[in-house]
Amino acid sequence: MTGAAAGAVGHHCLVPGIYDEPELYEAACAYRDVPGGVDALLRWAGRHRDPGAGPPRSVLELAAGPAEHARELARRGLDATALDLSAAMCARATQLAAAGATRLTVVQADMRDFSLGRTFDLAVTMLNSLCHLLTLDDLLRHLASVARHLDPGSLYIAELAHPADFFAAERRTSSKWSSEVDGGTVSVRWGGGTDVIDPVTQITREHVSVTYHRRGGAVRTVTDVVPNRFWTATELTAAIRLAGGFTVVASYGDFDADTPVAAPDAWRMILVLRRDDVASEVPAPLTATTTPARTSTTPAS
Ligand SMILES: C[S@@+](CC[C@H](N)C(=O)[O-])C[C@H]1O[C@@H](n2cnc3c(N)ncnc32)[C@H](O)[C@@H]1O
Repeated sequence: MTGAAAGAVGHHCLVPGIYDEPELYEAACAYRDVPGGVDALLRWAGRHRDPGAGPPRSVLELAAGPAEHARELARRGLDATALDLSAAMCARATQLAAAGATRLTVVQADMRDFSLGRTFDLAVTMLNSLCHLLTLDDLLRHLASVARHLDPGSLYIAELAHPADFFAAERRTSSKWSSEVDGGTVSVRWGGGTDVIDPVTQITREHVSVTYHRRGGAVRTVTDVVPNRFWTATELTAAIRLAGGFTVVASYGDFDADTPVAAPDAWRMILVLRRDDVASEVPAPLTATTTPARTSTTPAS
């Protein structure tokens, strides 16, 4: 069992937490329909990329964790790269790709500022991982880094929590759930309850608890406190304009259908950004140094 209190600077301090437990994290997220999500990503890529560009051939998944979506896209023939800050998550993504004989490049780097020396046709960030960008500067550096890695006309698709989870009288997603997973049941609490948003910073210190009950056997719990920055739709739009290099071309509220983000049953906020043609619009990195990236490709080329 691990317990961690995250420091004010962010989640990745030296104490272990839920992202150091990739298998439990995966079990907690087993409710997702990853192939269905990937169908939607490819449908939107076909619709919103430059006409005549054809289907995307390469993809970069940011804050990828175990790289569920990157591995599914690789299985469908894309040249896939997964980037994450956590060494444990990178190791797990590499291990799962090898086990599935899936070719995947894994990079351990910070999504706030990275340099991979190449471009992609598509970038994606899934499951509200942008909540780990805690400040406007973090978000601007991130957008500039992503823009540098996309060819003109290519897309950046970012899935975020729906603002109704923060603004509406009732949340549209649950902060507690259980799933049947291999050989047992996982029970999850992720935020909610007494976790309140700081009205000034818009950061919630989300209490996370994941308990795995192996059938007829052991019980294991990991607890953590994960800072989560809530980004409003208008803040995101303003930050995207400020960063330069992108135009918001669509937004959706679900993966199953093309539900508008404003629909009463929308439960995600999915933004589709198209990389502008004018290279000069992308500012240089805000910092003098770029985080060194550690890269491995599975299976080895
Ligand atoms: C909620 S998990 C989501 C993982 C994955 N996107 C998914 O859909 O399963 C958030 C991930 O963001 C990663 N992360 C947090 N801060 C990061 C940063 N600054 N740069 C890169 N990855 C980061 C964590 O290590 C973790 O794997």
